[in-house]
Amino acid sequence: MATFISHNPADTEALGERFGRAAQRGWVIALSGDLGAGKTQFVRGVARGLDCAGKVHSPTFTLVNEYGGGRLKLFHLDLYRLETAQQILSAGIEEYLVPDGVSVVEWAERLEDGRWKMKDGKNFLRVKIEILIKTERKIIYDDFGA
Ligand SMILES: Nc1ncnc2c1ncn2[C@@H]1O[C@H](COP(=O)(O)OP(=O)(O)OP(=O)(O)O)[C@@H](O)[C@H]1O
Ligand SMILES: [Mg+2]
Repeated sequence: MATFISHNPADTEALGERFGRAAQRGWVIALSGDLGAGKTQFVRGVARGLDCAGKVHSPTFTLVNEYGGGRLKLFHLDLYRLETAQQILSAGIEEYLVPDGVSVVEWAERLEDGRWKMKDGKNFLRVKIEILIKTERKIIYDDFGA
């Protein structure tokens, strides 16, 4: 695990960009942290690191946003509204957990529940964002060796 202190949104995006540059096909980046922690901000950086086109915003009305045009496809999921393992199952997100590209999952806490408990593995990277004060964030993440 590594720790990064972010002092502003651009810092958080810059860390995301490093993930995007290092990302390999099949990676699932699991983001956790409270409302407004900066998960979507982080995803903007991942998209930039992959050179994906398109404006990044949380997939509110759909489950998944897909951004193409980059080195790998980026799938952006937000599980906020899926509260039970059953809801996650019926939403059909399994294919995004072994993505043909890279997935970033907001509210990945939801995956820790029951049968969805994810195994640690080289393709599954956890990123936890904690709010310290107004613009400071502590980001604890699985080091990807870059
Ligand atoms: N250091 C920081 N890193 C990231 N965001 C920050 C930071 N400081 C302030 N912010 C602000 O916090 C907000 C983070 O919003 P963002 O939508 O990324 O959060 P989120 O974790 O995706 O929330 P949600 O759970 O609602 O999807 C933005 O308004 C951003 O400008
Ligand atoms: Mg968000």
